[in-house]
Amino acid sequence: MLHIALLGFGVVGSGTAEVILQNQKQVAAYCGDEVNVKYILDLRDFPEHPLGDRVVHDIQVILDDPEVVLVAEMMGGAHPAYEFTSAALKAGKHVVTSNKEVVATFGAQLLDLAREHHVSYLFEASVGGGIPIIRPMQTDLASNEILSVSGILNGTTNFILTKMKNEGAAFADMLKLAQQKGYAEANPTADVEGLDAARKIVILAALAFGKLLDPNKISTTGITGITEEHTALADKLGGAIKLIAHTEKIDGRVLALVSPFLVLPTNPICHVDDVYNGILVGTNMLGRALFYGAGAGKLPTASAVVADILDILSGRSTDRRLPHWQVAGADDVADVASLSCRRVYVFEGCPRCEAKAKTALASEDSVWLCDGKFAVISAKMTATDADAAIQTTGLCPILSLPVLD
Ligand code: HSE
Repeated sequence: MLHIALLGFGVVGSGTAEVILQNQKQVAAYCGDEVNVKYILDLRDFPEHPLGDRVVHDIQVILDDPEVVLVAEMMGGAHPAYEFTSAALKAGKHVVTSNKEVVATFGAQLLDLAREHHVSYLFEASVGGGIPIIRPMQTDLASNEILSVSGILNGTTNFILTKMKNEGAAFADMLKLAQQKGYAEANPTADVEGLDAARKIVILAALAFGKLLDPNKISTTGITGITEEHTALADKLGGAIKLIAHTEKIDGRVLALVSPFLVLPTNPICHVDDVYNGILVGTNMLGRALFYGAGAGKLPTASAVVADILDILSGRSTDRRLPHWQVAGADDVADVASLSCRRVYVFEGCPRCEAKAKTALASEDSVWLCDGKFAVISAKMTATDADAAIQTTGLCPILSLPVLD
């Protein structure tokens, strides 16, 4: 019997118990032994749950039990999850987690701690919910240099933006629905203001480039400024507004940002709707690979937690799953102003204004929308250059977004 403990019995924690119980035979066959949830750590009691008798309220019970070989941390929030993770690793227990805040903030030191104590620290569920992305980046793409990672990393905001575009639904109602469905964070500000996606792109940037950026310092814009009018305008342009997280290296420095983008239909991310996440990894040999699936929710996320548990308990996890990350210094980080891409601007005006804007933005694409509004898509340029070009026209855009094409 292989004994494990679950820290946190909320949406993901209870989902993890459900996956282990429901797929008991499969789990035992993969590990070569039965997996037993010996303890569940939570502040609450769950007397009605079949595993309700496993609930404890003191982490020390778990740390002191030599039978417990693995701890799955699904508490959310940085503290005390970080302290409990450190203590479990120091006690020689493997740790798996869905907690992106802890991985994005303390990942470098926790990986060092795991190495020091000859145990694993795996975090597949921290990015992309149930989508396999961490493991493929570390193993299947090992023969490639990773050049960039872009995509939709937050299910809640994608759900909201999709409903706003397709049904004209109101932002606040859809946020409530996403909370009811268990997609949103305990504090949904982290979803709608982009911080959740920022934490996830920081983790993927560390996997791609070995530097762990501070998620609170990367350029992050959420979707609270996006209106139904904006989503309708994007629709008229044949595209969709998506909250995109992006990372790439510019002149040896790591650039990472989160922002609403206009995604054109030529990019597969444009068609990633509802709670789904889509992550495009650009590599130097394979080219672009798209990872797509349920990016949030109880059982999808729990399935990724259990995949890590099985990886370790079956003995398949190896040292290469413990990457060496360095905490990024100021010299490692590229300024967001250095990002060069096409940009869309919506203006109100006459055909002469359109011609002026097209010339200034070296644009070959413009579309008349409605009510005297027109959109111009610029050539590839930095935001500074584009803003300077617009100033020369005397026009004032009513919407401006970077473009993913
Ligand atoms: N709140 C997150 C999301 C949950 O909506 O994507 C999964 O990390």
